[in-house]
Amino acid sequence: MRINLSCLALLLSVLAQPAAAQRLNLKKVFAQAARQTTVLLAETDKARNPEKPALVVPRTEENGQLKLVSTPDWTSGFFAGNLWFLYQATGDKQWLTQARRFTQLSEPEKLNTTTHDLGFMIYCPFGNGYRLAQDAQYREVIIQAARSLSTRFSPTAGVLKSWDHHDKNWQFPVIIDNMMNLELLFEATRLSGDSAFYCLAVTHANTTLRNHYRPDFSSYHVVDYDPQTGAVRGKMTAQGYADASAWARGQAWGLYGFTMCYRETRNPIYLQQAEHIAQFILHHPNLPPDKVPYWDYNDPTIPNAPRDVSAAAIAASALYELSTFSLANGTYYRQQADVMLHSLQAHYAAPLGKNHGFLLLHSTGHKPAKSEIDTPLIYADYYYLEALLRARDLAGAKK
Ligand code: GLY
Repeated sequence: MRINLSCLALLLSVLAQPAAAQRLNLKKVFAQAARQTTVLLAETDKARNPEKPALVVPRTEENGQLKLVSTPDWTSGFFAGNLWFLYQATGDKQWLTQARRFTQLSEPEKLNTTTHDLGFMIYCPFGNGYRLAQDAQYREVIIQAARSLSTRFSPTAGVLKSWDHHDKNWQFPVIIDNMMNLELLFEATRLSGDSAFYCLAVTHANTTLRNHYRPDFSSYHVVDYDPQTGAVRGKMTAQGYADASAWARGQAWGLYGFTMCYRETRNPIYLQQAEHIAQFILHHPNLPPDKVPYWDYNDPTIPNAPRDVSAAAIAASALYELSTFSLANGTYYRQQADVMLHSLQAHYAAPLGKNHGFLLLHSTGHKPAKSEIDTPLIYADYYYLEALLRARDLAGAKK
């Protein structure tokens, strides 16, 4: 009998993978996350500066200090989301109180029409809040934010505009990250009965599927449209290594975004796209064995390039959801997500009391701008907690 050695190696490596989520003591991991978040809450209050009262929410570490941001910052909703996740994980009312406090801070952003990031800024706090607390005010905030986001839609181009800044570089830029904001629109249709939000989300997803992806199912970061004709003017990067490279977080945003679009619509083209993206990520030769990607799959300095833990956390959370939809590959996706989660917990989690209270180390925010490299990022923690909750739900071990 002929033994195909590469198949054998693959089989052995699969068998050697730990059933990581089962081996993770999720109760203990949530208890550690809660203790660590208590530190972040205390550090946040300590870092408040009466001369800069708008800086209220933790984002990252900068020059050794905890960096706080104001609510128009795209990351402002994640910390409240983390607090809701801790409430969900533990049932402890102290997290409910803190979650409500930080959620409320973001309420004025429901009227912000200058950013596409309202999904992150509003859905993460208010969407989770509404799911867990059914507060009628949260419902109104979600619907109003969806109205604000809708003002950025071009019927000609069939997409929501991402950025208003750097308008010398592009005319109507759309970044792959924008897929994440569609969740707010789907939720707004569910809550309001107004299908306009749903239609707009689907149109954006279809246009993105058509224009953002390469034949190997990696994604460009930015696609620039001509607002007069809807034609694609250019495909480029802003946060990746090169225009033609695969920026790691962008691949994770796309994976999460198309998985979520399938959940919301049951349109098989989204499931197929999510599976293609998953294959790109999971089979990439530059994905390290611990499945925590370098910040860009095409950085020529790999293996000396920085990792992006946030990309792993987003991908792990997305893969758990995708595992529930894919008949052919569900077990495989779940196992890969388990490996990612196990790596994050075992090798990238901050020691208790360190890292200003952020849960994870070693993310990369914006390398070309030399900003937030190898550092904690609040959204890495958000998707890590979401992935842990999804792992717990899949394991059927809610208590
Ligand atoms: N959405 C911005 C980023 O991923 O850095």
